[in-house]
Amino acid sequence: MSMQSVASPAISFTPPKRNSLTHIPGDEGWPLIGKTLEILADPKGQVERQAARYGLVYRSHIFGETSLSLLGPEANELVLFDQAKQFSSTHGWGRILGLLFPRGLMLLDFEEHRLHRRALSVAFKSGPMKSYLAALDTGIAARVAQWKARPGPMLFYPAMKQLTLDLAATSFLGADIGPEVDEITRAFVDMVAASVAVIRKPLPGTAMARGVRGRKRIVAYFSEQIPIRRAKGSGGEDLFSQLCHATHEDGALLSTQDIVDHMSFLMMAAHDTLTSSLSSFVGALAAHPQWQDKLRGEVTALGVATGEATTFDNLEAMPLSEMAFKEAMRLKPPVPSIPRRTIRDLTFKGYAIPAGTMVGVNPLFSHHMPEIWPDPERFDPMRFTDEAQRGRHRFAWVPFGGGAHMCLGLHFAYMQAKCFTRHFLQNLTVSLEPGYTPDWQMWPIPKPRDGLRVTLSPV
Ligand code: HEM
Repeated sequence: MSMQSVASPAISFTPPKRNSLTHIPGDEGWPLIGKTLEILADPKGQVERQAARYGLVYRSHIFGETSLSLLGPEANELVLFDQAKQFSSTHGWGRILGLLFPRGLMLLDFEEHRLHRRALSVAFKSGPMKSYLAALDTGIAARVAQWKARPGPMLFYPAMKQLTLDLAATSFLGADIGPEVDEITRAFVDMVAASVAVIRKPLPGTAMARGVRGRKRIVAYFSEQIPIRRAKGSGGEDLFSQLCHATHEDGALLSTQDIVDHMSFLMMAAHDTLTSSLSSFVGALAAHPQWQDKLRGEVTALGVATGEATTFDNLEAMPLSEMAFKEAMRLKPPVPSIPRRTIRDLTFKGYAIPAGTMVGVNPLFSHHMPEIWPDPERFDPMRFTDEAQRGRHRFAWVPFGGGAHMCLGLHFAYMQAKCFTRHFLQNLTVSLEPGYTPDWQMWPIPKPRDGLRVTLSPV
């Protein structure tokens, strides 16, 4: 294992020696590759088998480094809530996202993170959110109308990916982005694809090389646009225009570099997570027609005619849809594991964990613990009634993380999900071929291996 110090403006640390973790149960698999291939092949099963063998704290060797899995709600609370400020997100996510999304909000720590989160939060207040809803609503209504005009079999996942990308172009960048839209979205897609690429060096011909090139293009685009957006005044209704006018606590505008880094990260954070969660949600509704009917009943009860816009109040009146979406994210959390690095020595469940240790919490595991979720593989939105939720540990269900880094786009995600549900179920029914069970790859982001074959029919 590398002993070199990893420096950051905020913290530096020296990863612990390999033998300093040997008091923690676990096994590290093959030399060099460790457990990486086993985990890639079956991330859920592998963690469940290791937990059954070693318990909720165990040692492993992934991506070239000894690391610890800390499992279950208590571990989620310790690491994500991080009251004692002992876990670095910068040095947890940095190895995965640092090259493509340096200084994205999730890659900042502690006081610096707090300052930037505060500056960004203006873009998520109710005024701007209403503008994003209007953009989402128009885009979703138009796409659902296209699907309705050509019913029959379709691959849902790529269609959802395209829709989320198109929606991001208008709600994040503005309706008047112009002829560059295709080039910019292509550059962005390359960046996102590279963030989960297996080969981490930008060697010619690799996804990482395309990602790095995409980043250059995106940086150039945002840098050129910032003065234009600022000159237009503060009325811009898209997220980018909001950030161009966002300020720090002392009133200073964010720097060009900050806006570039935050915009790239926000688009990445929104894109695959929404594609994944909305695909698993629609897959669940297709497999459970009785729930699909219930949600359609909820949509019909809104009393909104097909051509009418969706309002905030409409979304508020869709609690069953929200519960079903939550249940879909329980079964397939879009961020199935969350990395951090300890910056101090600490003890958890009696185990001494030295500073510099890579640790991971695992929403995918927590969401399937049978002692918390009886019959865990069953789709049952009733697990999310207010009463059922009150009886559970508050860190048992963590698709959006928790604590200081809790997803900033959570309300945006619910808004897109419910707006989509409204148009989709008002116009279409979705079904699966008899006998077909979609096969999902669960890591790094849940995704149906065959694209999710569904059949759409007009209501
Ligand atoms: C269903 C959709 C989504 C899921 C499941 C999701 C999940 C998450 C999770 C688990 C984290 C925390 C990671 C950590 O603690 O290391 C996170 C952070 C974040 N998410 Fe989301 N996300 C979703 C959608 C979005 C959207 C739509 C946006 C933007 C519009 C967004 C923006 C962010 C940002 C900025 C952070 C970093 C927050 C911080 O570090 O303070 N996410 N998300």
